[in-house]
Amino acid sequence: MKLELRGITKTFGDLVANDAIDLVVEPGEIHALLGENGAGKSTLMNVLYGLYQPDDGEILVDDKPVSFSGPGDAMRAGIGMVHQHFMLIPVFTVAENVELGHERHRFGFLNRRAARKEVREVSQRYGLQVPVDALVQDLPVGVQQRVEIIKALIRDARVLILDEPTAVLTPQETDDLMEIMRSLKEGGTSIVFITHKLREVRAVADRITVIRRGKVVGEASPTASSAELASMMVGRPVSLEIDKGVARPGDEVVQVENLRVVDQTGQVTVDDVTFSVRAGEIYALAGVQGNGQTELTEALVGLEPIESGRVVVAGQDVTKAGVDDMIGLGVGFVPEDRVHDGLVSSFSVAENLVLDLYHSPPFSNGLSLDLDRIAQNARDRVEEFDVRTPTVDHTASTLSGGNQQKVVLARELSRPLKLLVVAQPTRGLDVGSMEFVHRRIVAERDNGAAVIVVSTELDEVLGLADRIGVMYRGKIIGEMPAGADPSEIGLLMAGTARDHDKEVSAP
Ligand SMILES: Nc1ncnc2c1ncn2[C@@H]1O[C@H](COP(=O)(O)OP(=O)(O)OP(=O)(O)O)[C@@H](O)[C@H]1O
Ligand SMILES: [Mg+2]
Repeated sequence: MKLELRGITKTFGDLVANDAIDLVVEPGEIHALLGENGAGKSTLMNVLYGLYQPDDGEILVDDKPVSFSGPGDAMRAGIGMVHQHFMLIPVFTVAENVELGHERHRFGFLNRRAARKEVREVSQRYGLQVPVDALVQDLPVGVQQRVEIIKALIRDARVLILDEPTAVLTPQETDDLMEIMRSLKEGGTSIVFITHKLREVRAVADRITVIRRGKVVGEASPTASSAELASMMVGRPVSLEIDKGVARPGDEVVQVENLRVVDQTGQVTVDDVTFSVRAGEIYALAGVQGNGQTELTEALVGLEPIESGRVVVAGQDVTKAGVDDMIGLGVGFVPEDRVHDGLVSSFSVAENLVLDLYHSPPFSNGLSLDLDRIAQNARDRVEEFDVRTPTVDHTASTLSGGNQQKVVLARELSRPLKLLVVAQPTRGLDVGSMEFVHRRIVAERDNGAAVIVVSTELDEVLGLADRIGVMYRGKIIGEMPAGADPSEIGLLMAGTARDHDKEVSAP
């Protein structure tokens, strides 16, 4: 199926999110869309999927003009979309989720047997392995995403839109997804692929269109170097390496001793973890997602109860401290899930930039809020972090994914910190913003803060860290200096010990 967008324009008030965009997706090609945060990629895909009505322009399917008044129309025309935040029902099985809302079953009854058969067929045809009878809530993110893809394919999608599908995947899941994309393409399905990771674009794309500030700025070849793609996206040269000087660590700021965290189901998520971080030092926690990093950081900042062990920050025992106490102590936290834990989507950008701080000076005198100060602060932060929003009064929910992330970072990095805990700091950020955020994290360190970074991106860990702890099944199973051999870290991440390191045992 050939898909063509001609002169698509979409505005939100004064903001032109898509400005006369032309795009042709040929049958059976993987077409990557590259562009800065807020460039208009998701907006364009929402227009294509019938979620937004364009102000101008037309969509052609196999050279015939079509118009979509909702996703139902788009699906009937053969277009499927996997959103970045999945729309699955956690307590339903895979087969139930796939069949749900599918036109083919009648009278509202779900023909379970037919559904399971259909899911099996599609999953076999494209190598999309899923356990048909498992509950969605029990599946890893990568498998849930496959369920979304199967859902689109069962509805005969011949063009599949994937909006940042790899942002939340582990490297292994990403490789698997790229394999799946290749096999879909061989079967004749076209794919529109949005990602900020240039390596992925270069690995799978047949064609690349670059968008900047709502306009197509050109096509790039998949053989272009990452540096070329980056500068085309951002409009200036970008350093893809992390620049940092030698660390000058001072006193210990954080001491974590024999920390143990148990989740609501009784499972031990953090198991006897001991480490410390000094002022002016970046300690990175590497590991495959789901090995206790999230729980560890949440326990450190007072968001999760500590079962046993001790945490000391700046000389104070904070084992039982809550989030407010931690903020008061000068602890900053960037959570991994910005939408749920980092922002209040219905609040404005300005309000989100002072969450947790609005009741203290300079934003309040204890009785009333200083709205001018709050607005001025917001304008300064928006400028400094290049948050793309028409005004600071727009709600956070209207911001593009990457710009939401920048708001969280801008808030947490804009007060004096003794300890900064950041999880997946650059998830969803474009290469230009990534460069900026890395510099800011290094600047925090050089200002004397202790920094704990959690990242599933090994390059980010290697680039930022002064010391690296590898987490596996709730434990820190090895610590290494900056400049350690990446393959050795990779082995530890997989729970495999070196021969002489007998204390590490894979259960
Ligand atoms: N519902 C909305 N109301 C107002 N403005 C919006 C709305 N949706 C998007 N925008 C604005 O349109 C612009 C483009 O956003 P879009 O989400 O398309 O960017 P993107 O290229 O997908 O960026 P990212 O890489 O960060 O996901 C942004 O400036 C955003 O603030
Ligand atoms: Mg987007």
